[in-house]
Amino acid sequence: MSEEGILVAQAGEIPDGEGIKIDAAVLGTVDDVAVFNDDGEFFALDDTCTHETASLSEGWVENGIVECPLHAGKFCLKDGAVQSMPATVDVACHRVIVSGADIRVVPNPDRIAS
Ligand code: FES
Repeated sequence: MSEEGILVAQAGEIPDGEGIKIDAAVLGTVDDVAVFNDDGEFFALDDTCTHETASLSEGWVENGIVECPLHAGKFCLKDGAVQSMPATVDVACHRVIVSGADIRVVPNPDRIAS
């Protein structure tokens, strides 16, 4: 039986407090996906900010929040819920499975490319 999720990185490849961008083609999703390391916990959100088009993988990560690098909108890493203006729309989240050093992402069914 194949393991659940798609292997996207090794834990050591994502420094604490940073994110990396996984191409949509790897995951079969409608948007690239940002995978974040927040103090050893890993989270995945759609990469494109819902305010304009900044890449959230280039944002700042702290205390369960990613701050957009363009206008400082903030999103919860756990569920993508918007936390501060100018963003007003939640960003989609994806499930992350950590197995040893392997970081796997289970794409959100609502964000699968048709
Ligand atoms: S593009 Fe992210 S807050 Fe404006």
